[in-house]
Amino acid sequence: MPVEIVPGVYWVGAIDWNIRDFHGYLTDAGSTYNAFLIVDEKITLIDTVKEGFTPEMMARIAEIVEPGKIDYIISNHVEMDHSGGLAETIALVSPEKVFCSPRGKDGLSRHFKADWPFVTVKTGDELSLGRYTLAFLETPMLHWPDSMMTFLKEEQVLFSSDGFGAHLASSERFDDQLPHYPVGYPHQLKKYYANILMPMSSLVTQLLDKVAALGLTFKVIAPDHGLIYRNPEPVLAAYRRWAAGEVEPKGVVIYDSMWHSTEMLAQALTEGLMDAGVEAQLHYLRARHYSDIITEVLEAGLLLIGSPTLNNGYFPSVGQFLTYMKGLKPKNKAAAAFGSYGWSGQAVGLITKELEAMGMNIAHPGFQVKYIPDPEEMQSARDLGAQLAKEHLRGK
Ligand code: FEO
Repeated sequence: MPVEIVPGVYWVGAIDWNIRDFHGYLTDAGSTYNAFLIVDEKITLIDTVKEGFTPEMMARIAEIVEPGKIDYIISNHVEMDHSGGLAETIALVSPEKVFCSPRGKDGLSRHFKADWPFVTVKTGDELSLGRYTLAFLETPMLHWPDSMMTFLKEEQVLFSSDGFGAHLASSERFDDQLPHYPVGYPHQLKKYYANILMPMSSLVTQLLDKVAALGLTFKVIAPDHGLIYRNPEPVLAAYRRWAAGEVEPKGVVIYDSMWHSTEMLAQALTEGLMDAGVEAQLHYLRARHYSDIITEVLEAGLLLIGSPTLNNGYFPSVGQFLTYMKGLKPKNKAAAAFGSYGWSGQAVGLITKELEAMGMNIAHPGFQVKYIPDPEEMQSARDLGAQLAKEHLRGK
């Protein structure tokens, strides 16, 4: 069923209960592709859905209006989870106009090789639908060059594209309807920020500052994934915090191991963090998906990365994680490497260089043990965990 958000404005999207791999991101709770229908003198569809979900969206639209009556389509974002259904929708609807940003037109044209009735819009442009007015806000690199948001002025609804989204399939459409909200949802919201928006944090801050300077207030924020917020303040506050790179007194130990020696050190370091009374987490790279680990990195003040030396380098899973983390540009982290080695022991130095290149504050030159740690070395690792927590997390 479609769901009315404000008078004459409906959610008509699709629920993807089964998706678990979203270009490498573990979508453990599925997702939604939110699309919105505005019934006015000009009937307008904001965004579409991923290819394959168009019939589901069309069925919801058909419960409100005959789809052929849609006049305008607004495409806030080229990425195929929102535009994959665009070609099929345009073929069915034959809209009078398709609105998008200039880069949106470029991206959609490159992707679909189609000659659609594009109208490009820029920040501040307005479109009257009859009783309602839409204003456009380009948000380049949040998170693609083409990205924009659309604001329904009279009802103060922000159609925020990927911004403020979360991958969550649920029967509920609104933040205040989810059972036990806000217990489960913030994890998905944080995971989405960490994996999609973290590298664009300075742009998020600029956007929030611009919104404040313009005096814009939102009664509803309607993102393209997950729940629609009828109480936007908590999500806006969370974005401001994450974008500023605020960290908690929390240490995260991330490692892989060949014959358990690096694992022993990881456990001793974690014990040391706990001894110091900070939040500590231990993540084994073969037991936890990197998109979940990076979610925990977002608010951590200290990262300890462990690897054995394999073929003069670090373990492949550690390399994969470092590559992923580097692209996401986490801010305000102290970090150190540790590991066990058999004869050459390059991994710790190489990891330290990577952490340094990411702009992290190197908290220790690297803790290494040859073969299996003995009790004294285990105690040293534990002491080091406590020491680093005291130096870099206490008082935060
Ligand atoms: Fe950037 Fe949800 O797509």
